[in-house]
Amino acid sequence: MLFLISLFFPLTITYVLLWVYARRVWEVNGAKRRSVLEKLGVSSAEKKTIVGFFHPYCNAGGGGERVLWTVVALVQRTSPDVVSVVYSGDGDAGKDEIISKVKSRFNITLRPELLHFVFLQSRNLVEDSTWPRFTILGQSIGSMLLAWEGMSKLIPDIYIDTMGYAFTFHVVRWLSLGQVPIGAYVHYPTISTDMLARVKSRKQWHTNTNAIRSSATLSQAKLLYYRIFMYLYSGSLQRARFLMANSSWTKNHVDSVLNHRDGILDLFNVVCTIAMPISFLNLFGPRTSPPKSAKIVYPPCETHELVNFDLKGRENVILSVAQFRPEKDHAAQLRALHALFSQHPEHRSRPVKLVLIGGARNDEDAARVESLRSLAGELEISENVEFIVNASHEEVLSYLARASIGLSTMVDEHFGINVVEFMAAGVIPVTHASGGPLNDIVVPFNGGTTGYHATSSETFANALNEVLSMAPDPLLAMRERARAWAVHQFSREGFERDWEASGWRNFIR
Ligand SMILES: *[C@@H]1O[C@H](CO)[C@@H](O)[C@H](O)[C@H]1NC(C)=O
Ligand SMILES: *[C@@H]1O[C@H](CO)[C@@H](O)[C@H](O)[C@H]1NC(C)=O
Ligand SMILES: *[C@@H]1O[C@H](CO)[C@@H](O)[C@H](O)[C@H]1NC(C)=O
Repeated sequence: MLFLISLFFPLTITYVLLWVYARRVWEVNGAKRRSVLEKLGVSSAEKKTIVGFFHPYCNAGGGGERVLWTVVALVQRTSPDVVSVVYSGDGDAGKDEIISKVKSRFNITLRPELLHFVFLQSRNLVEDSTWPRFTILGQSIGSMLLAWEGMSKLIPDIYIDTMGYAFTFHVVRWLSLGQVPIGAYVHYPTISTDMLARVKSRKQWHTNTNAIRSSATLSQAKLLYYRIFMYLYSGSLQRARFLMANSSWTKNHVDSVLNHRDGILDLFNVVCTIAMPISFLNLFGPRTSPPKSAKIVYPPCETHELVNFDLKGRENVILSVAQFRPEKDHAAQLRALHALFSQHPEHRSRPVKLVLIGGARNDEDAARVESLRSLAGELEISENVEFIVNASHEEVLSYLARASIGLSTMVDEHFGINVVEFMAAGVIPVTHASGGPLNDIVVPFNGGTTGYHATSSETFANALNEVLSMAPDPLLAMRERARAWAVHQFSREGFERDWEASGWRNFIR
């Protein structure tokens, strides 16, 4: 008994202090809320809902930021009674500069009177460089401290994490005394059940260095570390009321984390909970009912320029748009063309051309382009192959407007935005039969197919031949279907429809 008391006494004290602190934060939040609204020019008679978006890198201009700002603009357009608050570490840039960058980068116009920023001072806590060891755990704890700073500055009426900091959910629950519903849009799982399985089976992978692998003890320690981390991550996701994932790949991972069970750690957790009945119940509020699974909401792709291209009169161009990185497997594209010409020599003299457009970020990429050129020479297809390195946006568009087929050979690509762009432009996709192109993108629509999948040079060649030999009417119909599907599912409008269909508004009190 004495042992138990001595073990749990400090913990209980901590919980009680936390609870007292949380009460205080919650009490003064009303005044903070009023002052934010006042600053935005809202009269005290108006009733507003504050939606908080946790996005510390909101000024980064990447795909995750496009999602954030598309949602903020959507909410501003459809709900004038909602004020969006973004928790961001971009205080140096400031509100005006962020808004104008969103306009120039994404062509999204924000209404400043419905937008407030809570600028966070401690963003360095979530940077890689702050945590050279135990990076993911360090960053997760860092994100909790960062959210702590945010919540002590302002607690929103609903909290949405759009950057993948699930551990912040605990902090939001503590400091809002369980009153604020939590949701998230997940781009990438922090740790996946695959990763855990890989550590278990001690296979080598990117953070599992040889030295660690060779030492069984360290390996056990590492497994325990991942196991506890997975348990905590799963517990964090279970604190959410709604979860969205950016693709079927991400959804599958989030779902398996959400439903992850660990009997021994559960038991340990229960013992801790029983030992601290008073504080636990008060502090954590009623248990939420977590969603059983995440909903897929594909991120918005910019399709507006592409959907106006003429579907008729396409040239015999097979187009590839991918950075010259190894995993894109450009060599497979050259081999497919070679197989096509061997099986159907008539295409060589039509002539059918393969155009490979892509960025080369560094010397390695440039060397890769050179070796691809010489591979084309060996395969005797150089005359029909063209490389365009670092093409401008206009040049890419001009090829998307002329090409007949879009080729993508990467294996297990999580998504494949280039394939969506092919389809929106009316370019028939021929992709590797795996990952996003297989499961999410090139799927039947309106009772017909929208493209082809293949796995080997021969099957790629067959697919290319089928498109190149197709009669004009069915070909046009397929181009139309591909475009219609891309717009339906992956355009901004599709994103907005699915975001709303997630039902997030039902959680606002
Ligand atoms: C920006 O958006 C507006 C309206 O949404 C659209 O009319 C315009 O064409 C877009 N501009 C660019 C460069 O995409
Ligand atoms: C989802 O997010 C991850 C991480 O940013 C990215 O690699 C993947 O391509 C995204 N999926 C889609 C459908 O954009
Ligand atoms: C492509 O762009 C990268 C940097 O963006 C540059 O380093 C490289 O030299 C460029 N390559 C070519 C062929 O223009």
